[in-house]
Amino acid sequence: MGTRESSNVSETGSFSIVLLCASGDLAEKKSLFLALFHLYEKGFLPPTEVQIFGYARTEISDDELRDQLREYLIPAKYYSPKQVEDVWDFLNLIKYISGSYDSEEGFRLLDKEISEHEYSKNSGGGSSRRLFYLELPPSVYPFVCNMIKTCCMNKSNLGGWTRIVVEKPFGKDLESAEELSTQIGELFEEPQIYRIGHYLGKELVQKMLVLRFANQLFLSLWNRDNIDNVQIIFKEDFKVEVHGGYFDQYGIIRDIIQNHLLQVLCLVAMERPVSLNPEHIRDERVKVLESVVPISDDEIVLGQYEGYRDDPAVPDESNTPTFASVILRIHNERWEGVPFILRAGKALDSRKKEIRVQFKDVPDDIFKDVPHEILLIFSGQKHRRNGFRICLQPLETIYMKLMYKLGNLNMSTHQSEQELLYWRKEGVTIEDAYENLILDTIRGDQQQFVRRDELEAS
Ligand code: NDP
Ligand code: BG6
Repeated sequence: MGTRESSNVSETGSFSIVLLCASGDLAEKKSLFLALFHLYEKGFLPPTEVQIFGYARTEISDDELRDQLREYLIPAKYYSPKQVEDVWDFLNLIKYISGSYDSEEGFRLLDKEISEHEYSKNSGGGSSRRLFYLELPPSVYPFVCNMIKTCCMNKSNLGGWTRIVVEKPFGKDLESAEELSTQIGELFEEPQIYRIGHYLGKELVQKMLVLRFANQLFLSLWNRDNIDNVQIIFKEDFKVEVHGGYFDQYGIIRDIIQNHLLQVLCLVAMERPVSLNPEHIRDERVKVLESVVPISDDEIVLGQYEGYRDDPAVPDESNTPTFASVILRIHNERWEGVPFILRAGKALDSRKKEIRVQFKDVPDDIFKDVPHEILLIFSGQKHRRNGFRICLQPLETIYMKLMYKLGNLNMSTHQSEQELLYWRKEGVTIEDAYENLILDTIRGDQQQFVRRDELEAS
């Protein structure tokens, strides 16, 4: 399976980004526009090539959309005059088109606007790149994809590519996910489809690959002989609030565990890929998922926070879990017997996303009887195991837990967490997962996106 369209691939020429659903309360869409603005500021979206189109049913003008975005993009407190100027220039790249999702009229208009943009940038011929980003209820995806295919595929002879970005949820269960994949798959080739699971785009998740596979130290330690358990933790200290309606239909397992935490699990547990080719990396992720044995009922804990049903979008009798803890077991040579504990919850005591890798006890520990002081308690457990803590949030940092000798009077030991690595911002940096992922769609690199067989397995 290739990662790029087999023909007409171009990385220069006119570039159209179409955000399907650029209206509503803009809550989610604003962060997408912010990611695009950051890419624009860093020179990845040259104004000589790019036009951004917003499309939705709501009737608003270009200026109304720009005004709403301006308020959001200019946080007066820390923007320099240059940045404010950049925001104005960026907003001039945005056009809004109103139309329905299931009739040709709006999409024909969209195609006309895109074509005009392309010809204005490519009067001497060249290429056309069209990126459609769907941020809509998944039930609408098949109609929208059909309309894109029918009305907006570049029919001119400019050459180029069309890519479709879809956001989770990709269905509610295997059957609905397959149905959606089949519907979209009949319209577009797999290398044109970019399924976003934004945890794959997180910088530290990517850094893990280097840590694991570029260090002999980790290569030799990373297995059932040395590791006692792995915990992948997602804690949010706020309620589901405005998304109560969406969330109640899915619950914490479908919202977080089945996608984000499983993606992290794959990178922690996978074998070394044959190469850095995106397909080789995706192959290894799929193998991990296929090696997970069915979860046992007595290894699941579910819960719902108090007050969840007070949300007006949530039915009074809802049993949807807002907390879940599950133990996954990977049936292969490397991980047999090692529990992978995945834990996710909303409205908890703190906000953190982290991976904890806990090593086994030192065999026949000669220090077991000497006084032991724990200066930094790791996961609340008062034992002397080594461990790694890989924090994705709030601060992107990797800690290593080691044992030391305390003072010089006697042989007492203590345990301390050493900072092993943190994300230093040097030169041009990518701020968040969405920036990272949009950049990859522009470059045609699918490594950080979910492949169809991966979706099926998860
Ligand atoms: P919103 O409900 O804010 O936006 C939905 C927008 O889609 C509406 O404003 C509407 O705009 C348009 N729309 C098109 N068809 C329909 C339809 N049949 N019913 C309702 N609205 C429709 O949702 P979000 O932007 O927060 O999320 C978009 C989708 O992304 C969600 O449906 C959900 O499946 C998914 N998602 C959301 C998450 C979240 O936390 N919000 C998390 C993960 C996924 P208009 O009328 O102008 O066309
Ligand atoms: C989304 C979930 O995919 O991820 C939300 O739908 C969740 O419920 C969010 O809050 C968390 O993302 P992040 O990047 O803040 O960890």
